[in-house]
Amino acid sequence: MTKDKPLRKEHTVFHKISYGQNELDNLRKTLESGHIGSRGRNTIEVEVKLSKLLDHKKVLMTTSCTAALEMAVRLAKITVGDEVIVPTYTFPSTANAVLINGATPVLAPVDLSSLCITLDTIKQVRTSRTKAVMVVHYGGMSEDIEAISEYCKNENLVLIEDAAQALGSSYHGKPLGTFGDFGCFSFHQTKNETSGEGGALTINHGDEDLIKSAEIILEKGTNRIAFSRGEYDMYEWKSIGSSYSPSDLLMAFLSAQLDEFIDKLHKRKMQIKKYIEVFEALKVDGLSYFIGYQDEYLSETSSMMTRSNAHLFYLRFDTTHDADRFYKAMLEDEVEVRKHFVPLHQSAMGCQFKSAQCDLSSNDQLFDRIIRLPLYSDRSELEQLHDLSVLKNYFTGLKSCTAEEII
Ligand SMILES: Cc1ncc(COP(=O)(O)O)c(C=O)c1O
Repeated sequence: MTKDKPLRKEHTVFHKISYGQNELDNLRKTLESGHIGSRGRNTIEVEVKLSKLLDHKKVLMTTSCTAALEMAVRLAKITVGDEVIVPTYTFPSTANAVLINGATPVLAPVDLSSLCITLDTIKQVRTSRTKAVMVVHYGGMSEDIEAISEYCKNENLVLIEDAAQALGSSYHGKPLGTFGDFGCFSFHQTKNETSGEGGALTINHGDEDLIKSAEIILEKGTNRIAFSRGEYDMYEWKSIGSSYSPSDLLMAFLSAQLDEFIDKLHKRKMQIKKYIEVFEALKVDGLSYFIGYQDEYLSETSSMMTRSNAHLFYLRFDTTHDADRFYKAMLEDEVEVRKHFVPLHQSAMGCQFKSAQCDLSSNDQLFDRIIRLPLYSDRSELEQLHDLSVLKNYFTGLKSCTAEEII
């Protein structure tokens, strides 16, 4: 295999947190204010900023997307004996939220091009006990969420959107996370905007009673939020709840992060555009890749309905052998790549939740064959050039090798 020297033989990382003086100033101001517990000025400010991004829905900040998912399932009154449809290709929190509320997750396969469940796969695993559907907008992409939402409304099923990876994505111009009854977002350190750990719940149909119940669950089962608005003289224990409110210190960081939202989105999109251009030119057999933004950037007219938030870029290999070889080569060439999501039906815990009526084997190879490439908003030109030159060398080198050399 012939290889040019990569531009810079130095470790390039998969992900870095971007932050600047505004985050640091906000942290300092908040420390000096003396209020670093829950629901301070920053928390309220972040809720307002997010509500603007999310079609003016009611937003409550949580300690994580996991917490928001747990709250959504509880608010939907899903409990023992109920089933909730969940994609098998997701992070465990999606299914855990169902279990923690006493119900049963039922795993549905994802479509191999979008990596999301479809109306078809939902119908395949639905039973008379199905109470809700949890869709995951993988990589900020979505299947036909309008059709899924319509189906859930007509069939009286609760729709929860796990939009952990999807803040800033939209479908037909409407933000993902605002189609269902509830939207759940993550601000974990791996996300486009972060508070280290953090999340948000949107309550999408403006039901005041539901919003009040959510505020109580959020604040340890008390009506402290209503009390702080002056609606009560004292607060008390009202129902089951938990400690789902984040520290205002974390929200100080997140508030500054959200002010750079558009700029960071642009930088991420430009990196995806470059990846796509390279793979369009290379035309590698047996390889597909993330398509978010392809149409928008490679042609003037866009037919795509989902606008992704450029959260990630992945390659999907047709064979495990090719994926393994690529993975090892990238690590040797100092490009940090990642695999993720052991499909739940193949995990130690999740194998018990396979649907009796639906074959999940089409998703068996996803962990082995999907490889994510570096992407973060402050990735320098030099890092990008390095990674792209390594990728080009790898794939052009493969093309010029004989089959024997490759094996
Ligand atoms: C699809 C999905 N759901 C839920 C989560 C959990 O988010 P958090 O870490 O904010 O609890 C993640 C985390 O990456 C995720 O990717």
